[in-house]
Amino acid sequence: MDALFPFGFPWPTAMYLTFYVVTAAIYAVFMHYTLAGALVLAIGRLRVLAHRRASRGPEAETVSLGLLEHVVEDWLPVMLGMAITAGVAPLLFLQILYKQSFYTANLLLFHRFMLLLPALIVAYYMLYLQRSKKLHAWGPWPRAAAVIVVALCFGYTAWAWAENHLLSLHREDWGEFYGSGRWFFPDSELWPRLGYTITAAFATFALVVGWQLAWGRRGHDPGSLDLAARQLRLLALLGLFASAFEAILWYLWLETPAQAALRSILAMPYGVLVFLGIAVQTACWLPVNGGARLTPRRLVIATAGAVGTMLGAVVAREVRRLVALDLSALEESHRQAARVGGMAVFLTFFLVNALVIAACVWIVKRDIAPAR
Ligand code: HEM
Repeated sequence: MDALFPFGFPWPTAMYLTFYVVTAAIYAVFMHYTLAGALVLAIGRLRVLAHRRASRGPEAETVSLGLLEHVVEDWLPVMLGMAITAGVAPLLFLQILYKQSFYTANLLLFHRFMLLLPALIVAYYMLYLQRSKKLHAWGPWPRAAAVIVVALCFGYTAWAWAENHLLSLHREDWGEFYGSGRWFFPDSELWPRLGYTITAAFATFALVVGWQLAWGRRGHDPGSLDLAARQLRLLALLGLFASAFEAILWYLWLETPAQAALRSILAMPYGVLVFLGIAVQTACWLPVNGGARLTPRRLVIATAGAVGTMLGAVVAREVRRLVALDLSALEESHRQAARVGGMAVFLTFFLVNALVIAACVWIVKRDIAPAR
């Protein structure tokens, strides 16, 4: 571990690690959108409820979601579909890379972990249900309840993945965990891990919605666009500051060997990249006081910062795992996997899926109604 990640590993291991971090970073963009978007939409629906209760009279009926929440409401089902699709690729590489530790954690948490499937199915249908005219006719409460269920399902899914990850790192606890028949693995690292993901999700979310608003600029009322841009700035800055804080907290939480690895040449440049990316994004968001400031140039620079933060964070997270697991014992199985082939098939389908998703987004964008 005295070379920059992923150099210093035999080439099959380095290749799978590279594919894992790249696909995990792509997946994380969509996962962040769904996680933060569901919370934004739930808060928006609760805000509508509160306003309607406060303002009695005919004007109460006109209180509705803002432009930001409307965009999220339109795109959340698509983004969930993309998160699910994009999640498959890192899942494949994870199983090649870590085999036993990943499968064992899965089996030990079996019911708990597998509950994320019905949770995601419920979330998926709730996202469509909360837009149905029938539910609308019943008033604002059922729609708010549906979105709260979605946010809870996503929160549960995030927790399940984080808990599974942590259990996979603690081989010394497997026997006791199995013997006890417990359903939960309450490791104290869970909270800084989840804290980082959830706070970082808001910064990624703000950037993606920033692009969506910039592309749909002409269809939006300028006043609503200005308000949405200021809301995005607030979400982005809160997400960036809080995630920087959470990253430091997470580092302090770790044991000495993991901290030493994160300070070594293996991970240090990636750690720097995380904070450099946060600084670039902060500088881009600070002057955004209206829709006119969401220029492509600003968004491109912020996106470059976000790519640095995302890649840096995914690699730092991986280095933490490499310290806990002995990857050298698995190098032979990586070599064998690389000999079996299948990479051409993976890359072909990766490309085909990316094109199909891009075509779906393009069709939706073309046909979507301008903001209400
Ligand atoms: C909206 C639904 C989802 C949410 C909110 C979510 C959330 C998360 C979170 C928070 C992590 C990071 C865990 C950690 O490092 O502590 C994670 C990891 C991961 N997720 Fe998801 N996830 C979702 C759906 C999915 C789906 C459907 C798949 C697969 C098809 C998937 C695949 C993965 C993979 C492969 C990892 C990396 C696990 C590891 O490295 O141990 N996710 N997810």
